[in-house]
Amino acid sequence: MSNRSSRIPGFYKLPFEKRLEIVAKWANLSEDEVSLLKNFGNLDKKIADAMIENVVGGMTYPFAIATNFRINGRDYLVPMVIEESSVVAAASNAAKMLREGDGIISRAGPQYMIGQIHLVRVDSARYKALKILEKKDEILEHANQQDPILVKLGGGAKDLEVRVIDTRMGPAIVVHLIVDVKDAMGTNAVNTMAEAVAPLLEKITGGEARLRIISNYAVYRIVRAYARAKPEAVGGKDVAEKIVEASILAESDPFRAVTHNKGIMNGIIAVALATAQDHRAIEAGAHAYAARDGTYKPLSTWDIDSEGYLVGTLEIPLQVGVVGGATKVHPIARIALKILGVKTAKELAEIMAAVGLAQNLAALRALVTEGIQKGHMKLHAKNLAIMAGATGELIDIVAEQMIREGRIRFDYAKELVEKYKKQYQA
Ligand code: MEV
Repeated sequence: MSNRSSRIPGFYKLPFEKRLEIVAKWANLSEDEVSLLKNFGNLDKKIADAMIENVVGGMTYPFAIATNFRINGRDYLVPMVIEESSVVAAASNAAKMLREGDGIISRAGPQYMIGQIHLVRVDSARYKALKILEKKDEILEHANQQDPILVKLGGGAKDLEVRVIDTRMGPAIVVHLIVDVKDAMGTNAVNTMAEAVAPLLEKITGGEARLRIISNYAVYRIVRAYARAKPEAVGGKDVAEKIVEASILAESDPFRAVTHNKGIMNGIIAVALATAQDHRAIEAGAHAYAARDGTYKPLSTWDIDSEGYLVGTLEIPLQVGVVGGATKVHPIARIALKILGVKTAKELAEIMAAVGLAQNLAALRALVTEGIQKGHMKLHAKNLAIMAGATGELIDIVAEQMIREGRIRFDYAKELVEKYKKQYQA
């Protein structure tokens, strides 16, 4: 055991079965464990194997639907994939509170992403930066030659920004290609363009292009969502005021703001997973945006308006796509998009921001009233009951007893399930 080596040359070239065999041997996996891992669920094994490297199995997450969402005057059923209990129920609940009129209003701007080229070892950087700007049209044209389809759709490289940054190795030039990626998340198109224009920039500046890649700080892909709820809808004036206080505390305390934003991302990332988005990019961009003023701030705020309504706003960069990437490859992502009925990245982003805002309201409401644990514990108890073998009405019986007695533990769930099953059999 102790002389095992993780150095396995050519592991990636081995057939799937062989790779699994090696891992099974390594971890002493039982036959049952191997066959569970081998179960790809609703993703075809061939697709999974082609999606990433070194695949040895599949892992399924629950796919749920949040109800009650009304966004920009239209009703949506929102697919969510998440491992955390309560999130979907909370989103549905808050969506009900925010249904009045046109519901949550959510507006995404243009779908512009930034492609960065970092040029180093440039002398007279400021002068060279201006020379780049002189050649803007030529650079944009060269970028656009890389993606005629995107250009035909009205997208493509639209603008150029040049900055000079001071680094500990001296000044560097940062060129931003501003690319309208339309309905794609944009990474491929932008990276291809960034790589293509890099030699041209090297020629203009005499420097060396070091990095040629998209920036996930998607400051030109902002979505703004806002909504109003009658105080009665959230549990009364007192609750509404406490939600505002919670919002204010997050504004003044970065430690709280991070958790506040985590609650927002619970909703956004669940939709991102269901639709197979690059959720790491979304997270990275969102948190950078939250810290754009130098201090980490909440992405949403809550207030009471002059009519006594609770009003919430959310502003977030969202980089999502409905064409290309895993969105197109994963059959479940396609189904998720069909359930949503969205055809554009802009609409998907608007829905996600709306879900984030609702999720945030649900969390703050729970926090300022009964606390978060009660709801969590209910679902947790149910999960434990199911894991312990309860089915049908036994799930609720066991869960409720564990909650009543304050003993929400797997061993106790098992004890209760066995006891009740014996009683039924007797
Ligand atoms: C838990 O997943 C999310 C919350 O912590 C968010 C919040 O505190 O606002 C409940």
